[in-house]
Amino acid sequence: MVKRIKKALFFIKTWGFHTFVMECIDRIADHYYETYFNIETTGYITTEQLKSENLDWGGYGAVYYRYMINTLSKLQVDIPSSTLLDYGSGKGRALAYAASCNYKKIIGVENSKPLMEKARENIKKMKHRRTNDIVFEECDAQNYKIPSSVNIIYMYKPFQGLTLERVIDNIHLSFNESPRKIFIIFWNDDEFEKIISNHDWITQTHHSQPHLHHSHGIYETQF
Ligand SMILES: C[S@@+](CC[C@H](N)C(=O)[O-])C[C@H]1O[C@@H](n2cnc3c(N)ncnc32)[C@H](O)[C@@H]1O
Repeated sequence: MVKRIKKALFFIKTWGFHTFVMECIDRIADHYYETYFNIETTGYITTEQLKSENLDWGGYGAVYYRYMINTLSKLQVDIPSSTLLDYGSGKGRALAYAASCNYKKIIGVENSKPLMEKARENIKKMKHRRTNDIVFEECDAQNYKIPSSVNIIYMYKPFQGLTLERVIDNIHLSFNESPRKIFIIFWNDDEFEKIISNHDWITQTHHSQPHLHHSHGIYETQF
């Protein structure tokens, strides 16, 4: 208990009282949704623990539910006819939330076997699931060919650098092969911005920073 109080005081001293209160709200909300869905997606796992040699790989940590829900609610899409792809789906938090919303199809792409297994287990036992068509693709995102049904791409800090460049090329290819409106959500978007700055097939339509360390952009293909 004393350890926890010390940790809280250190946090307040470093980041301020307002950030501390917001952090508490986010964690309480996370706890609520984890219990509601009956899943376990918390914790941080470093790239070393994941035994990855890919320098573009940023490790595992799940997005706060509140931010994910808020961001997805901004998309002007017909959910029951939409396919959502989560690049770097980890333990399946975004997949589980999407599965409770009745998307037509949900695809999780993940490079780590143990994380993919955890995601499968979470989806299997989750409560309040409305989507049945959930596909798990265990592969490097760079090698994944995006199906033409995908119209929402979700990326919570999955990778950067050359890997991100190749994935953006894959999205472009999928768009050229089957021109359609694709919504892309990227956390933290400055990485994404740098790469797409001279691409004219995609535009940022929204930017927000709900947390000191997390900002996101919503992008749409020009269709
Ligand atoms: C920050 S976590 C995001 C987890 C989840 N999308 C969420 O929002 O809760 C990033 C995930 O991307 C995965 N990842 C990193 N590089 C990858 C790659 N090249 N291909 C597939 N997955 C990758 C990591 O293993 C990790 O699980």
